[in-house]
Amino acid sequence: QPKKLWGGRFTGAVDPLMDAFNASIHFDRRMYAADCIGSMAYAKALAKNNIITEEEKDQLVSGLEKVMEEWSKNTFEIKAGDEDIHTANERRLGELVGPVAGKLHTGRSRNDQVATDMRLWLREEASKILAYLKELISITVNRAEKEMDVLIPGYTHLQRAQPIRWSHFLLSYAWLWQADAERLEQLIERLNVLPLGSGALAGHAFNIDRDFLAKELGFRGIINNSLYAVSDRDFVAEFLFWASLTMVHISRIAEDLIIYSSGEFGFVKLADAYSTGSSLMPQKKNPDSLELLRGKCGRVFGDMSGFMMSYKGIPSTYNKDLQEDKEPMFDAADTLSGSLQITAGVLSTMDIFADKMRGSLSADMLATDLAEYLVRKGVPFRETHHISGAAVKMAEDRNVALSDLSVADLKSLHPSFDDDVASVWSFETSIENRNTPGGTAKSSVSSQIDQLKTWLTAS
Ligand code: ARG
Repeated sequence: QPKKLWGGRFTGAVDPLMDAFNASIHFDRRMYAADCIGSMAYAKALAKNNIITEEEKDQLVSGLEKVMEEWSKNTFEIKAGDEDIHTANERRLGELVGPVAGKLHTGRSRNDQVATDMRLWLREEASKILAYLKELISITVNRAEKEMDVLIPGYTHLQRAQPIRWSHFLLSYAWLWQADAERLEQLIERLNVLPLGSGALAGHAFNIDRDFLAKELGFRGIINNSLYAVSDRDFVAEFLFWASLTMVHISRIAEDLIIYSSGEFGFVKLADAYSTGSSLMPQKKNPDSLELLRGKCGRVFGDMSGFMMSYKGIPSTYNKDLQEDKEPMFDAADTLSGSLQITAGVLSTMDIFADKMRGSLSADMLATDLAEYLVRKGVPFRETHHISGAAVKMAEDRNVALSDLSVADLKSLHPSFDDDVASVWSFETSIENRNTPGGTAKSSVSSQIDQLKTWLTAS
């Protein structure tokens, strides 16, 4: 059996099943770069405090560079006994630079090492995800700008409610994603503190310069309590919640677009690139991309809730349960990267049917505007709501459109109705009346586009 890094006090062999059960190398190998970079900084810090010589440091750093290169070229050979990325790298470093490799771990534990690796890895990955998210926002904003004059029914309870601009709908998601981006930026800020130099749990016995380490690794500061430093995975929990919430937003627009792409709606058509067919029904074109996006949301919730279950009830400091933090973090990061890119692809290639959208507007959707007409004539809104409701009923009973009621019909409901009521029967007017900031009028939608563009260029 290969020698264990921690094997000193052990005489019995480990059950091979336990060995496999305990190992994390098959997934934590993804953190190889973070592990090597963290170790290089650590070697420098050891030399800075004369715990190792400058020459030893140089040997360690160049050895670690080689280890990292082997991983990136896919030539790193994982050997039996390589329990995790930390032991694997140290083993390989020893083969490359000899016994000096044994000095690297002075004062360090895998506990502060793994916590550091995780933060470095997530910081990097979250920045990539942030870029995908901003790309998605940018695509959505550009589309909204191009399709400004397209009108669609706005829905509540999936019942036609009031006419809105299609762009206004698109931007409602751009704003959700903008908030997601801000949250992700804040999360990156929060996780960017250094656990290294905390030892196994109690602190560092060789007075390592933790501020130096933090600077070397680009952290904004150090974690001020060693027990906290080795056991804290709140940043993983926060990321998983962030990922879940962002997936909710993706899932909701996916659901909207699935509905809009149905034959009954026919508002949008997905590009072939994001659709699939049926093996049996030749006519089918299915929005699989959107269904997967909706489904993946559940998967990310699983990552979050699974991790939370493992995380709760762990006694103070490091316990092996914490090894269960990685796979959900990796999975959520992968799923978000993929989902954001697919959503961007769908949104940038999808066709819309502006005529079908507009054709779905009906005069009853102006019942609120009819009530507002009377409000402008001085009738209290609560009263006008009833009067307009009575007009809707009258039209329904006669099986005509609300706009087909004559002025005389309307006058029979309230004397303030007059010839100028004709102006109510315009979807454009209804939309343009909603010109307060945040509304669906052109000026407001344009201003939303400007705000989002300014944010995109500034961030
Ligand atoms: N593979 C371990 C993990 O992911 C590294 C830390 C091991 N520490 C320990 N004391 N066994 O959590």
